[in-house]
Amino acid sequence: MAQSEQIKALLHAHHERFTGSTGRLFSAFLSDAGLTSYATLAAVLDVRAGQSVLDIGCGDGVLLASIFDREPGVSLHGLDASGAELALARERVPGAALVQGDCTERLPYPDAVFDAVASHLVLMLVGDIETTFAEVRRVAKPGAAFAFIYDDLASDADGVYADLMRTGVVAGLGESPSHFRQAADPRLYDHEALRELCARHDLEIAEHRRFRVSREITCDDDAWALLATSYPLGRLDDEARARARTAVLGRFRERFGASAAVALPLQLIKAYRAS
Ligand SMILES: C[S@@+](CC[C@H](N)C(=O)[O-])C[C@H]1O[C@@H](n2cnc3c(N)ncnc32)[C@H](O)[C@@H]1O
Repeated sequence: MAQSEQIKALLHAHHERFTGSTGRLFSAFLSDAGLTSYATLAAVLDVRAGQSVLDIGCGDGVLLASIFDREPGVSLHGLDASGAELALARERVPGAALVQGDCTERLPYPDAVFDAVASHLVLMLVGDIETTFAEVRRVAKPGAAFAFIYDDLASDADGVYADLMRTGVVAGLGESPSHFRQAADPRLYDHEALRELCARHDLEIAEHRRFRVSREITCDDDAWALLATSYPLGRLDDEARARARTAVLGRFRERFGASAAVALPLQLIKAYRAS
């Protein structure tokens, strides 16, 4: 199913209200190698001076800044649906060419212009990824890399994050979340289906990595902050948010005590445009 108008409206409202929240959250979580997921993706892309990279769903520009930190000579391009996120990205990476646009439609770039295309925590939000992949293939040069990271939260249904999220959703919305992956294209979680989809668009998968980023969360300071700007809980009204907050902090204390290590499971794909 394509990204519905309802989901687009929810995402728009969320990013107006919680602008920069993904970057703030994920910049504080590190992999076993001591890297943020942004730095991990920038390293996998490995773009060189003089090359150009497009970040699809660039948000407030943390990935673009990470690419710049590795190699200031890269030509940086970002596309995002949210004007509020792009305004922050303009401050963070003043040299980047940033465009407001929708990655489920034709991208506003000519054919075969980018040496690399990246996306961080976006593709699980766009519904049917077929058009996006066709467009990536069109705007990427032959041989260009396409590397992306997406969440794999449902693979850790008993983990701290999932436990606290369930608690917050039940307290705030009064319902049990059926699945975190509801809106995502299921092929993201089925390697063979993803390989077939990529192959149809001349994209050959070279690497598929499952990894985690984690950090120590203390009950008082961080437990609610971890969830407050999530998509399910961000849209609650003030009263429901207060209920969710009380329940989350209570659950945290009861199950984990004063602090707990929280891991966020992610998947990373690196593919190349074959021809
Ligand atoms: C979870 S945030 C990730 C932002 C950024 N990539 C990061 O990781 O910090 C998802 C981003 O995808 C953008 N987005 C969602 N659907 C989109 C679409 N169809 N086209 C372009 N951007 C989209 C949102 O506006 C938001 O900035």
